Amino acid sequence: MNEEQRLASQQIKKDKQPAKDYSKYFEQVFTAPSLKEAKKRGKEDVKYHKDFEIDEQFANMGVGRKFYIRTYGCQMNEHDTEVMAGIFMALGYEPTENIEESDIVLLNTCAIREGAENKVFGELGFLLKYKRKNPNMLIGVCGCMSQEENVVKRILKQYQHVDMVFGTHNIHRLPTILKEAYLSKEMVVEVWSKEGDVIENLPKKRLGSIKAWVNIMYGCDKFCTYCIVPYTRGKERSRRPEEIIQEVRSLAAEGYQEIMLLGQNVNAYGKDFDDITYGLGDLMKELSTIDIPRIRFTTSHPRDFDDYLIEVLAQKGNLVEHIHLPVQSGSNEILKIMARKYTREHFLQLVDKIKTAIPDVALTTDIIVGYPNETEEQFEETLSLYREVGFEMAYTYIYSAREGTPAAKMQDNVPDDVKKQRLDRLNEVVREYSAKALEKLVGTEIEVLVEGSSKRRDDVLAGYTRKNRLVNFEGPADSVGKLVTVKIIEAKSHSLVGEFIK
Ligand code: SAH
Ligand code: SF4
Ligand code: F3S
Repeated sequence: MNEEQRLASQQIKKDKQPAKDYSKYFEQVFTAPSLKEAKKRGKEDVKYHKDFEIDEQFANMGVGRKFYIRTYGCQMNEHDTEVMAGIFMALGYEPTENIEESDIVLLNTCAIREGAENKVFGELGFLLKYKRKNPNMLIGVCGCMSQEENVVKRILKQYQHVDMVFGTHNIHRLPTILKEAYLSKEMVVEVWSKEGDVIENLPKKRLGSIKAWVNIMYGCDKFCTYCIVPYTRGKERSRRPEEIIQEVRSLAAEGYQEIMLLGQNVNAYGKDFDDITYGLGDLMKELSTIDIPRIRFTTSHPRDFDDYLIEVLAQKGNLVEHIHLPVQSGSNEILKIMARKYTREHFLQLVDKIKTAIPDVALTTDIIVGYPNETEEQFEETLSLYREVGFEMAYTYIYSAREGTPAAKMQDNVPDDVKKQRLDRLNEVVREYSAKALEKLVGTEIEVLVEGSSKRRDDVLAGYTRKNRLVNFEGPADSVGKLVTVKIIEAKSHSLVGEFIK
């Protein structure tokens, strides 16, 4: 924000001046985040609440008002947005895609890399323009960035046109937070560093009618040394199997065709239950009996991927033969300092087991290059692992230091341009393997779940294969939302072109 914008923002909310001593201010007015507190994993049991309801005092709060939510980050955040949209609509608010006509703008943020955070700060500066035009507009920041101390301090200092900041554990408190923001002249900050309980029956306004996200667990206890997620999302808490099964059943009854089960480390599902022995394999086995064509999950951690899960997945049916299995690096030394708690050999063994059980499996992954002090040899081990596994696709990133994580304290001797070159070299290999995987499909007939028309042409349909590959083809408009068979005639760099068969 430049000086002019800053002054303007002060004019809008003169009374939103933060106190100089933030810690004192936090104690008095806020529940503010603390990464240190977030790291402490409590022994107390997680409570399950099934009885979410909107208090009478909030009824009709949103009548005649519109909301807009912009979502950054992973599918968990996208799904949280669906929950917040559900709450807004239960309060009588209407959704809008137009910031100008909205009474509330929420940024649901991601903290995973510096780049993700910069986008949000840029957007916050930009929102000032709208706030000037409509001083009654409420602006809120939620999601993972709100859980970071340094972010909240920066918002207090530089973005005084923000009216509310709330964390990932406080979504169910949205009605209360909104009410406070309407009444208060101060910026409302409500961030709990300790994770909350598991709350069922939250309203949801799902974005699509063909594919649906279903949370199976919250949080992460892995503490990979580079990663902010265990601090922003709290300790691992699994939803009870009966709640998940019920949700999937109702989605199937509503006509959904595909379910994506969500968790930061879904392979740890159930490890926190102390009354039953029940894991992801058991859950997938039960879900496989539900009449819905496709079920996937994300994200897997290689460490907890057990044999029973492989055995269940090998039976296929509605369990798709695509596994996203982030490896991060092919070097044992780097894996060790990342605290991934597996070795290259262990990972390759796991891949072997999976391929033996599911020969046509598609494996995809996440990789970080340019970890502090990563050597050329260590980087080449990542390239060789990639080739050895033959991943079909990967999300690749340059390491980004996250304040408060152990890796952020490490000295780093790898220059930025070397990191950039490594990313380019890796992406070249990723492209090569992705192209190979797509070319292999030319001439085959394949099942496609049709999602709508293609981005570029209304008369071309677009859908995804079981392995999540995009296919464009000309076909009957009434096949949207259905599974069809398509013959692949051409492989493009990131998608396939097909001919409708039936
Ligand atoms: N829970 C998932 C990952 C979630 S974050 C898992 O463990 O697989 C998605 C990806 O972002 C990670 O797999 C990692 O590749 C990347 N990532 C996480 N922290 C990062 C950081 N500090 N810098 C660069 N990339 C990071
Ligand atoms: Fe982050 Fe590691 Fe947890 Fe994934 S498993 S969310 S990379 S700490
Ligand atoms: Fe980002 Fe939080 Fe997801 S940091 S990747 S939005 S869990």
